[in-house]
Amino acid sequence: MTSVKFHSGEDLPLEMHKVRIVQKLTLLPVEDRLKAVQAAGNNTFLLRNADVFMDMLTDSGVNAMSDRQQAAMLTADDAYAGSATYERLAERVRGLFGMDYFLPTHQGRAAENILSESLVTPGSIVPMNYHFTTTKAHITRNGGEVVELIREEGLETTSALPFKGDMDTDALRSLAAGDRPIPFVRIEAGTNLIGGQPVSLANVRAVREVCDEFGLLLVLDASLLADNLYFLKVREDECADLSVGEIVRRVSDLCDVIYFSARKLGCARGGGIAIRDQALHDRLRSLVPLFEGFLTYGGMSVREMEAIAVGLDETLDMDMISQGPQFIAFMVNELTARGVPMITPPGGLGAHVNAMEFLDHVPQQAYPAGALAAAVYIAGGIRGMERGTMSEQRKPDGTEPLSDMELLRLAMPRRVFTLSQVKYAVDRVAWLYENRHLVGGLEFIEEPPVLRFFYGRLGATSDWQEKLAAKFRADFGDSL
Ligand SMILES: Cc1ncc(COP(=O)(O)O)c(C=O)c1O
Repeated sequence: MTSVKFHSGEDLPLEMHKVRIVQKLTLLPVEDRLKAVQAAGNNTFLLRNADVFMDMLTDSGVNAMSDRQQAAMLTADDAYAGSATYERLAERVRGLFGMDYFLPTHQGRAAENILSESLVTPGSIVPMNYHFTTTKAHITRNGGEVVELIREEGLETTSALPFKGDMDTDALRSLAAGDRPIPFVRIEAGTNLIGGQPVSLANVRAVREVCDEFGLLLVLDASLLADNLYFLKVREDECADLSVGEIVRRVSDLCDVIYFSARKLGCARGGGIAIRDQALHDRLRSLVPLFEGFLTYGGMSVREMEAIAVGLDETLDMDMISQGPQFIAFMVNELTARGVPMITPPGGLGAHVNAMEFLDHVPQQAYPAGALAAAVYIAGGIRGMERGTMSEQRKPDGTEPLSDMELLRLAMPRRVFTLSQVKYAVDRVAWLYENRHLVGGLEFIEEPPVLRFFYGRLGATSDWQEKLAAKFRADFGDSL
């Protein structure tokens, strides 16, 4: 990783790339932002991108691609079967993870579908450090239950703990000693829903030991591995002198299966499953033509596959994988300095605002993280994502589980924003924090039964949004 000091003493992350393709942005006046968010049912997933100034919804499929990725797309081999593109991608994955078998899938959740359909049985449990929305949906759809074994400290909102994503291995051992079947144990790198928090190599090793003791399969969700690799390199002594490639192998050698969303890992659009064991590969493979497409493209465009192969290669470059975490750390530190309650230490994926504390007057039943997402859009045309109770699934008896955390995620797609844009986002969120008493709650108007946060529509519980927009206009005059 390149370290560049500023003569001024300022501690700023410096981009080790230049921008050569740009996309024009618009910033609507606050009155139009108010209308847009209300038309979207206060659900940031339903906003039109044309109405968004900074799209911080996700990093999924929207990281900037490199010139090498774009160039590789032109070399794609379009053959339905046996394409050279598949060979290149499979070889890249093999080289990275040291596993012999690779199955392509059209994105990360498709890999989860194949794993869950094949392995999860009714009544079984799948222990994991923490769930991800689509992972849980696939496991429960197949009659399994997700058991989260994140250590208590992992859920503390402010902390200096370097690896909050670690699993409690004592709890895993007790669970494994029980009598419910465990189709696999899942570790999620860069644990998404607790704020992009990494898992340590020591913890993966400890989980492996328990798996060996009880003959369990260990599956790594590597979607957010790039950020996790950066944190392993800078926070775990064992990794300090290793190359990124060597760190990947230390992790992957401990796992039986590694799946990933290539919308995140590899900075393109697709996914895949790397498998160590041939028998398991054969079993999973039978579902690929059923759900994805032929085995040599798995529902992906061959152009994207070429881009993924190069993107995976670029994941071994510290300049590349440090950009996201360093910009995120900048944003989190700036907001923390302005008193805004942030999840700390800064993780990967994005800056995570602690909505439970930001809006401590809004009860969880009124979706504080969802309300904050709507408010941040009104305040700055910035689109974040609710990661709290709205993202939970109602139980079959109709009761609503309250989320452990209420987070507003402001994702930092890699190499997409400039530092002045990040400073703008800091400014608008800090303004909102000063005016937080104006923000009220939300309630569902339309609530889909599965993954409700994607399509659900909500209304404000009072006229707080109009009051917020009016305050913005009063404070900012004729500024957008
Ligand atoms: C940790 C994790 N696993 C799985 C997925 C699902 O991947 P995809 O969106 O490609 O289906 C995601 C997507 O955000 C993720 O963050």
